[in-house]
Amino acid sequence: MALRNILTDRDPQLRKASRPVTEFNDRLFTLLDDMKETLELANGVGLAAPQVGVLRRLCLVDTGEEVLELMNPEILETSGEQDGIEGCLSVPGRYGFVLRPNYAKVRAQDRSGNWFEVEGEALTARCLIHEIEHLDGHLYTEKVTRYLTDEEMKEYGVEG
Ligand code: NI
Repeated sequence: MALRNILTDRDPQLRKASRPVTEFNDRLFTLLDDMKETLELANGVGLAAPQVGVLRRLCLVDTGEEVLELMNPEILETSGEQDGIEGCLSVPGRYGFVLRPNYAKVRAQDRSGNWFEVEGEALTARCLIHEIEHLDGHLYTEKVTRYLTDEEMKEYGVEG
């Protein structure tokens, strides 16, 4: 495994739409394993392939119990609403409030290409939606209602 470099905000790659994953091969497994290591080291809850410069539709989401590997994910259903703090490994040192659905159901393929469905609430729903938006070239900064002040970052225990 190897660490991948995480692109930041100004990189135009982050604004491009990614193409579907079509090959479920060793190259994909290496990418997934590298992304998992990169995500863990960065202490994040999610990472999308375009963030490491690979314009393919795949992402990782840490539910707290497991790290989901989602290839070609699609949102099937959302409901409810939550207003919470969101950050992104590609936007270091900033956090903001984003209104999101409180529930999301997603369909995706695993690393063998088998389709499955996964549901999430609260932070997991937020993360699923955030990561899938990366695959269409969107960042949470487009939806942020207000950024946290330095004081608030200390108060909420997030790193500035
Ligand atoms: Ni992000």
